[in-house]
Amino acid sequence: EISFFFPKQHTLAVIKPDAMEEHRDTILEEIRGRGFTVTQLKETVLSREMAEEFYREHREKPFFDQLVDFMSRGPSLMLVLTKENAVEQWRAMMGPADPEEAKETSPNTLRARFAADILHNSVHGSSNEQHAEEKIRFVFGDISTDAAALGSDGEAD
Ligand code: TYD
Repeated sequence: EISFFFPKQHTLAVIKPDAMEEHRDTILEEIRGRGFTVTQLKETVLSREMAEEFYREHREKPFFDQLVDFMSRGPSLMLVLTKENAVEQWRAMMGPADPEEAKETSPNTLRARFAADILHNSVHGSSNEQHAEEKIRFVFGDISTDAAALGSDGEAD
């Protein structure tokens, strides 16, 4: 297990509104099964303003308005995941944004299995450590993401 050599890291994961009803529990189970610790967890309906801020890196993209509509249409589950190399490991578990590509290249990924299309693609994950830190602060405020500070197993309720 090569991840033994990586330091513990945090990432922000989101179960998006399209996956909440049918796939939320499966996704959570698989996250824990892959050895991630869920250090923070919060169900939220993002306002349009919050969704705009969350995805501000994409504000010039042609799909931005649709993305904001979709992300604010119902509850999402926001998670801080902690593990060695968490950013990359969670991205690997999600698969590429486009489920058609995911089905070809990585059929076991969450997006290959659960995403309807590139917009309704079931999960989000930070793309690097800096984004992870920034988005965790945006969603959860100035909390400690030190697993040790959250109880013996570092597991949120
Ligand atoms: P992106 O950062 O490219 O992918 P990822 O979610 O894997 O980091 O895009 C962010 C989100 O924007 C993506 O999850 C869904 C939406 N999106 C579209 O709706 N259409 C597109 O063509 C792309 C590239 C993204």
